[in-house]
Amino acid sequence: MSETVVPNASPSTFPFPQGPDRYPFPEGPQGTPSPEFARRRGECPVSKVTLPLDDEVLLAVTHADILAIMSDDRRFIRDLSEDDTPKLFPNMEVLEDPTLLMNMHGEDHLRLRRIINPTMTPRRVDGWREEIREIVDGVIDDMEAKGSPADLMTQFANLLPVKFILRQFGLPDSDGDRFIRWVGTWVSVAEQETMEAVQAEFSAWVDETVERARTNPGTALVDVLVNAHDEGERMSNAELESMIRSMVVAGMESIGNGISRSLLTLLSERAYWEMLVEDRSLLVGSVEELLRVNPPGGGSVGILRMAAEDVELPSGALVRKGEWISTPIIGAAHDPEAFPEPTKFKLDRPKSTSTLMFGAGRHYCPAAHLAKAEIEIAISALMDRFPTLHMTIKPEELPWDHSSFNVGMPCLPAAW
Ligand code: HEM
Repeated sequence: MSETVVPNASPSTFPFPQGPDRYPFPEGPQGTPSPEFARRRGECPVSKVTLPLDDEVLLAVTHADILAIMSDDRRFIRDLSEDDTPKLFPNMEVLEDPTLLMNMHGEDHLRLRRIINPTMTPRRVDGWREEIREIVDGVIDDMEAKGSPADLMTQFANLLPVKFILRQFGLPDSDGDRFIRWVGTWVSVAEQETMEAVQAEFSAWVDETVERARTNPGTALVDVLVNAHDEGERMSNAELESMIRSMVVAGMESIGNGISRSLLTLLSERAYWEMLVEDRSLLVGSVEELLRVNPPGGGSVGILRMAAEDVELPSGALVRKGEWISTPIIGAAHDPEAFPEPTKFKLDRPKSTSTLMFGAGRHYCPAAHLAKAEIEIAISALMDRFPTLHMTIKPEELPWDHSSFNVGMPCLPAAW
């Protein structure tokens, strides 16, 4: 049996300006966190960094500080109403949209959360599990038909999020291409004209979808969202459009990345894979630990928050009113104070320490149950079908793509 050849994948280089205080820091080898996080944790837990467009902001790198900031929605807010708010990346309009849930605060944010929280409860997610499994099994059937070895990125991890989204939006598979094109544009540094054209196409699609879901509601997530309300109050069309866009982006970018990086962790040290194959009940509780070890996209993009007043952090650092601070998840997730031997996947870590993988406080990811279910079902179905699955190259030989802010692997060759 021939082994997979790594498909034409010379690693793309890190696209942002580099220098001692330039942020984001380039990842270490094989998608490991930059050693800068560990160095700063020891020397200066809150320090100044310069973003790609030369904005200077603070950077927190310890679990205690990041948890304190993310869970304090009163003293740390996102206020994008000022023109001079720092920007994480050039031309990333999707992150700067003031109507994006993630960028809202106060009563408007609470009102929208009251409307959307009931649309993705554990109970509702349980109702979607069978459909999710059906989608995963279909993708595995195709992979099996093509034969071993296979590329788990292109034949599995990258296919699932699009299929999940299409099902959640009640759409046929043939609509996948335009979703891939839209999201590809939103998360890239595309020209303004291209952005506007994609936005117009997307808005027209949302209008049609909202109209259809209002007149003929089904059970798909989009129908539930369109018809969700709180004490009679619904989302406006503009709010719905923004919400649907953030769900499409989050669903397509983080799920595939979460699945592929979790598979890399499990297959790099096959004892982990075998342990979960033997006792599948352990998988349900281990998804968050898998994400912590190797977060989607590397976890070093810290959404910015602004101090609404002077705040002293647990590390003793003072953040002054009006200062912006970045809270990269990887800083918290690989802090050995919170997670001893942070690079190791361990099932017996105390649940009392938040992994922060899905955030904290009022912005806590509303889709956390759904995301965990999708990742768990994907891995479990793969274990059912191919318990002998193994990588066909050494983890250190994998190419990495650093050309987008969501760093990932272009391929993951494996056989069964
Ligand atoms: C592995 C997958 C995922 C991870 C790790 C993840 C992580 C996160 C994190 C850390 C936040 C908080 C951001 C902050 O406070 O700055 C967040 C918020 C959010 N996530 Fe997720 N997410 C995932 C999947 C999804 C999916 C599939 C959806 C949609 C279907 C989604 C929708 C959202 C939305 C709308 C918010 C904003 C919530 C708010 O600001 O109130 N996420 N997510």
